[in-house]
Amino acid sequence: MRLTSALSSVPFCIGLAQAYGDDPFSKWHPAGPGDVRAPCPMLNSLANHGFLPHDGKFITENRTISALSTALNISAELGKFLFGEAMTTSPEPNGTTFDLDNLSRHNILEHDGSLSRADYYWTHDSHSFNATVFAQTQSYWTGPVIDIQMGANARLARVQTSNKTNPTFSMSDLGDAFSIGETAAYIGILGDVESGTVKRELVEYLFGESTAFSFGGCYLSHCGWNALLFVFL
Ligand SMILES: *[C@@H]1O[C@H](CO)[C@@H](O)[C@H](O)[C@H]1NC(C)=O
Ligand SMILES: *[C@@H]1O[C@H](CO)[C@@H](O)[C@H](O)[C@H]1NC(C)=O
Ligand SMILES: *[C@@H]1O[C@H](CO)[C@@H](O)[C@H](O)[C@H]1NC(C)=O
Ligand SMILES: *[C@@H]1O[C@H](CO)[C@@H](O)[C@H](O)[C@H]1NC(C)=O
Ligand SMILES: *[C@@H]1O[C@H](CO)[C@@H](O)[C@H](O)[C@H]1NC(C)=O
Ligand SMILES: *[C@@H]1O[C@H](CO)[C@@H](O)[C@H](O)[C@H]1NC(C)=O
Repeated sequence: MRLTSALSSVPFCIGLAQAYGDDPFSKWHPAGPGDVRAPCPMLNSLANHGFLPHDGKFITENRTISALSTALNISAELGKFLFGEAMTTSPEPNGTTFDLDNLSRHNILEHDGSLSRADYYWTHDSHSFNATVFAQTQSYWTGPVIDIQMGANARLARVQTSNKTNPTFSMSDLGDAFSIGETAAYIGILGDVESGTVKRELVEYLFGESTAFSFGGCYLSHCGWNALLFVFL
């Protein structure tokens, strides 16, 4: 679907949320003391909205499936698959839940050359939003609308910078696949798939974890399975 008018569709979104009998947008609040978060803006947003446990902990398969389905219209099969991927990062050998901060464990799904997080090498924090890193990414988004070329340039620049400056630079195949998928996904989910464009301000809201993105779950609910990779952004 076209999302170019997403900002003006906020009232529609609120109506939709109320139709679900529950307004997740009124529940938004950021992580507090003791809450854990992932290196993935989308999962963090789901926890901030209460689709996932607000503390980010003990996330079960069922909770994952229902959160992804309710907020992003991701099918139960894909929800199950993504839960399995997330579980590969859990340190518990036979656990049944993961915590959002488990996803930060280096080089499982987390990867060097992220668009908004520093490489693990620098401060061992590949988890928190890093304004310097994101500024580099933003410098390739040269207009109010991001197109595929700008998205690809930003990703390439981040990977090349990491490759040149980080002596431990590495990219697992899975990390690489997620990294490519992320760029395709933020365009495909937030933007217009056919023209391959997305409003820069929408993407910036998400990366910045700004309250302004709290209406995001709504139009994301129209995206179906394309939301898959975006979840791990
Ligand atoms: C998960 O959900 C399924 C289907 O709703 C249900 O049958 C199952 O008992 C639930 N499992 C747990 C552990 O809650
Ligand atoms: C995990 O499960 C496997 C197979 O069920 C079992 O052999 C192993 O001992 C378990 N490990 C732990 C730490 O419980
Ligand atoms: C991951 O999850 C476990 C619980 O399974 C938790 O004890 C641990 O602190 C979490 N964080 C990291 C970074 O592994
Ligand atoms: C941000 O990342 C850079 C490396 O790209 C690092 O040198 C810097 O310390 C990081 N900033 C913070 C606040 O962690
Ligand atoms: C990193 O740089 C090396 C040397 O220039 C190159 O061979 C390699 O393909 C680069 N890796 C990536 C993922 O770009
Ligand atoms: C959810 O996804 C299904 C299957 O992809 C699609 O048929 C349905 O229209 C979507 N629902 C909404 C509200 O977009």
